[in-house]
Amino acid sequence: MALDTTQQNRRMTHFNDHDAIWLFGYGSLIWKAGFDYLERRPAHIRGWTRRFWQGSHDHRGTPAAPGRVATLLPTDGAICHGMAYRITPDILGPLDVREKNGYLREVVTLRFADGGTTQGLVYIATEDNAAYLGDAPVETIARQIAEAHGPSGPNRDYLLNLDEALRALDVEDAHVAELARHVRHLDGEAPDAR
Ligand code: SIN
Repeated sequence: MALDTTQQNRRMTHFNDHDAIWLFGYGSLIWKAGFDYLERRPAHIRGWTRRFWQGSHDHRGTPAAPGRVATLLPTDGAICHGMAYRITPDILGPLDVREKNGYLREVVTLRFADGGTTQGLVYIATEDNAAYLGDAPVETIARQIAEAHGPSGPNRDYLLNLDEALRALDVEDAHVAELARHVRHLDGEAPDAR
């Protein structure tokens, strides 16, 4: 798959005739919307697990020293909690650019924390994209995150902001929490600071 997924996503016409679209965010889209939205509601999707397995060459790293950002792994029985945004279709263009480093739009069922379900979109970077990094020992992933830096800022901020945002939503994500603990430790913060 081409590294820049913008054109592929533009050909995805599933919600083209809709006045508004629900978007599910599970990574930076939880803590940094960066776009106008009509409504925002905590939600989850079934069958996916959040993992820091996607390389970032454009936001939290560089082509020479990629960072690591979140993607979703298909997992039977899993639930991934995040934030749903109701957006107008014009927001998808800039989102396709923001998510261009390997992420593709996927149609999913969103389940709102306060009840109800709807069809919506999520951006997922699957293992066949050129920036995919996959699994590694937690210490290796944490060190890469602690050291990487890209045009959007330090990779550690992406991880620690996500960790904070999930805690604020009362969501326990063992993968994110463990990575955050390791990165804080590498940063010299007391391991029990949180
Ligand atoms: C998301 O947040 O939903 C997608 C991945 C990211 O932009 O961090």
